[in-house]
Amino acid sequence: MALVTLKQLVDDAFQNGYAVGAFNVANMEIIQGALKAAEENRSPLILAVAEAHLGLLDLDVYAPIIIREAERASVPVAVHLDHGQTFGTFVKALRCGFTSVMFDGSTLPFEENVAKTKEIVRLASAVGVSVEAELGHVTGGEGDPSQGVADPTLFTDPEKAQRFVRETGIDALAVAIGNVHGIYRGKPELDIPRLARIRELTGVPLVLHGGSGLSDDDFRRAIANGIAKVNVYTDISQAAMAKIRTAHGLPPNADFSRFMAEVVETIKEAVAEKMRIFGSVGKAK
Ligand code: 13P
Repeated sequence: MALVTLKQLVDDAFQNGYAVGAFNVANMEIIQGALKAAEENRSPLILAVAEAHLGLLDLDVYAPIIIREAERASVPVAVHLDHGQTFGTFVKALRCGFTSVMFDGSTLPFEENVAKTKEIVRLASAVGVSVEAELGHVTGGEGDPSQGVADPTLFTDPEKAQRFVRETGIDALAVAIGNVHGIYRGKPELDIPRLARIRELTGVPLVLHGGSGLSDDDFRRAIANGIAKVNVYTDISQAAMAKIRTAHGLPPNADFSRFMAEVVETIKEAVAEKMRIFGSVGKAK
């Protein structure tokens, strides 16, 4: 049985200078590819279901599959609700056996974000589930090329982050330091001094959303300054789509299921590459 909480994974990563990848799973192929990469590389893993993806993936059907896959994996796996916003989704995720939830109140005024995050911490901690929350706001949408530039007015304020963590009791904090969801326009510029200050003042594992399109050096510096979880979706989705596009020359009698197994292998490679960069290879206990 290897289903673990987010807190177990990120505390170890935070203390030992690596990060665990959280990959958004929106179908069976991503679940399979990510699990294969984790087992082959002896890396811990976070399988993340975004509330925005629930139209693609019905929790009633998929949650038992994801939980069962996590339980029987030979490496530790956390099953996480990403960007949760509605109370009903939190309750459903908890009832389904998720081991971690993120409350995204990043567009709310500070006091309201604190109050709502506290409510989720109260609910989740009663059943031993970890909580991540966001302060400051990471713009853009997964897979979305329309924004791609960070807004410095929305970056996480280190002093407010200290208060936020102290008052809410969260297990991990998602930060806005120049990262954006989706496809970056131009070269991303992470504000590493700000990140270092947030780590110093909060002392909790930090989370980098928008992990697609950053350089190895960006990751190295971010992880050295407190990032213990990196969220990735767009890169994995693009790797899978590139595989599918190159398959146009397949004969009409090509076997669909065998082809999708090749897509799984492609996703596995893309996930494994991130695990190598994040330093989580061989960290499965
Ligand atoms: P990317 O799609 O930019 O990798 O971001 C994923 C993410 O942050 C999910 O919360």
